[in-house]
Amino acid sequence: MIDRAPRAKREGMVSGGRGMLALTLGVLGIVATSAAAPACGVTDDPADTPADVPEAGMPDAIAPDSAPAPLCVDGKPVDWPPGPYEIGITSTLPPDLAFEGPSGTVRLKDYFEPCAARSRLLVVRSAAAWCGPCGWHATHTTRLLGDARFADRLLLLDLLIADEDNMPANPPAAMRWSKRIDVPAGVPAKVAMDAKYTFSAALPAKNVLPEYVLVDTRTMKVRTVMNAPDPDTLGGYLDLELAALDGKPRVDIPERKLHDGLLTDDQFDLLQDMKLPAVPPPDPTNEYADVAAAVAFGKKLFEDTGLSPSGTVACITCHDPTKAFGDGLKQANGVALGDRNSPPIALSSHARWQFWDGRADTLWMQALGPFENAKEFASSRAFVVHAIANSADYTADYATVFGAKYGALPDLTTVPAMGKPGDAAYDALPQAKRDEVTRVYVNAGKAIAAFERTLRVKPNDLDRYIGGDATAMQGRVRRGLEQFFKVGCVQCHWGPRLTDDAFHAIRFPTGRQDGAADRGRADVLLGLATAEFVASSKWSDAPQAAKPLSFPGVPPSMIGAFKTPTLRGVSQSAPYGHGGAFGQLLDVTKHYGQRGQMVTPASAAGIVEEWLPNFDANVQGDLPALLDILTADRLP
Ligand code: HEC
Ligand code: HEC
Repeated sequence: MIDRAPRAKREGMVSGGRGMLALTLGVLGIVATSAAAPACGVTDDPADTPADVPEAGMPDAIAPDSAPAPLCVDGKPVDWPPGPYEIGITSTLPPDLAFEGPSGTVRLKDYFEPCAARSRLLVVRSAAAWCGPCGWHATHTTRLLGDARFADRLLLLDLLIADEDNMPANPPAAMRWSKRIDVPAGVPAKVAMDAKYTFSAALPAKNVLPEYVLVDTRTMKVRTVMNAPDPDTLGGYLDLELAALDGKPRVDIPERKLHDGLLTDDQFDLLQDMKLPAVPPPDPTNEYADVAAAVAFGKKLFEDTGLSPSGTVACITCHDPTKAFGDGLKQANGVALGDRNSPPIALSSHARWQFWDGRADTLWMQALGPFENAKEFASSRAFVVHAIANSADYTADYATVFGAKYGALPDLTTVPAMGKPGDAAYDALPQAKRDEVTRVYVNAGKAIAAFERTLRVKPNDLDRYIGGDATAMQGRVRRGLEQFFKVGCVQCHWGPRLTDDAFHAIRFPTGRQDGAADRGRADVLLGLATAEFVASSKWSDAPQAAKPLSFPGVPPSMIGAFKTPTLRGVSQSAPYGHGGAFGQLLDVTKHYGQRGQMVTPASAAGIVEEWLPNFDANVQGDLPALLDILTADRLP
């Protein structure tokens, strides 16, 4: 009898207990398996090894299997073990499960080897490319599965759920993912796509990625399910399962080795990666990104209310250095109240996408949005370009930075005071004139972006802790850090800015003035390919460096999806969420604790993602203590 549930529960795993969803699964796609031809000759069913009897109190306890039918008859495997089938703990998997992969279709049938002399374990690992711990597990596969004691006993099937932006898994993403996996020698490994999250969604433990499912290849029964296990624990369970399958005595799961009593090896590595980033990544789409004169020009533009016809609004109005480059308001307030919360932008130059919905793919393109937004500046490119041309100071700046390549400012005598595409007077200008105006406008955006790239913040207590100062975190803050990793915040909030820069539907309430739910990413996805200023446009200095922007459609998972915000500066940037609806950090952690269930259907769009953390009131209280130390004070 294997009694492993208590520890499993503590590690955030589930083992034992029958999965509840019986799935009827169609063929999703196929890849030929490299599973060796079974060495026939054994006719017994390995299920006669001790059955997994869950501890009392575990959900859906089941009786041990009663005399199972032989699966290897006269040295030949039967087609598939008898049903009932379901994806669940100790259940026999459905016979027709198949997944498409970069090199063909992977059928679970190809792993079935009832005539093999010894059982092998098929390790099915579900992961998403945006997820921090998933990346760690992929790149440490040899460390996790490569030990000599597992030699010839493991098969690996990596199922990719979603890509780096959280779009459903697609062939290029699966190819990139397969390149990140350092497959250990001797472990037959495949990568396939499970874009609908079919495989793991039916299992009882499902809220932290990556998820490991261990399957006995002689019976195709699920043995154990684990969520983001640390290397020692995973190794322990592999030992335990193999011993059980071999009919050997029970193996103990080793104690986890903890750094500073808090974090396992994998978590500790992820923590090291959270160190404050030095300089932003290069931006080849902006030739002036790191030009000092452009920075100086951009700073003036950033602070100038003269670029708004009302004379009252500048970038700095809503991105105030004394408020962590946010504004402290629920929704932004320019010339009118807007629909979304102003994000703290000190580290935006590091982001892959700009805006809550990612409707800009470069920082310079982002800067061109607010001017022509009716609720923010209510300005226009013609107005901005006139303002530059009418100022001797700006004219000199422009000449210094852009003169060599673009010459002097254009003649604006025919250009109306206000004008942007869609305005009749502006549209009536010859194309060449409109291009001249737009060129100056784009260059202003590039100068502003250059300035934003110079914004830096001071290290905080998290950085001091990462740097080795154990006293930088005490009491509740320490518990908060432990929980941050344990409950799975780190899936999305990882890396130097504590964000994956991907889009997730987690039902934070809307901030729209009309009260309607905000559809976020879903509303901008298809327009990106034809947007005026994207990195692939003629205004870009490196169109060839652009990421692909054409998507086949809007997947349901993008409805109500928003970009994961950085958590650097979060203690200074209340209120929270795309709509600014949460006043305090405790409100945010309560929302997570309830998995968004308390938000009314009308005030948020989309369906909460499966892997959102789920935890009790104690954790809700500890997490804000950690978030409170995540300051981002401006470095002069
Ligand atoms: C009226 C307030 C307001 C003004 C003025 C304003 N912003 Fe913003 N800014 C916002 C809001 C609100 C958002 C988020 C909007 C959204 O996602 O739809 C935002 C988003 C951004 C972002 C993206 C941050 C992220 O994390 O995605 C950057 C960068 C930024 N603004 C820079 C600027 C610059 C540069 C200017 C001046 C050209 C400017 N903003 C003017 C309110 C403002
Ligand atoms: C599935 C990815 C994901 C996970 C897991 C996740 N977050 Fe988030 N987080 C997001 C996204 C996306 C937003 C923005 C949501 C919105 O506004 O609609 C967000 C917003 C936040 C905010 C508000 C920040 C701001 O500036 O408005 C805080 C604080 C936060 N998360 C903390 C946490 C904590 C603590 C956990 C763990 C309990 C966690 N997150 C788990 C993706 C995630």
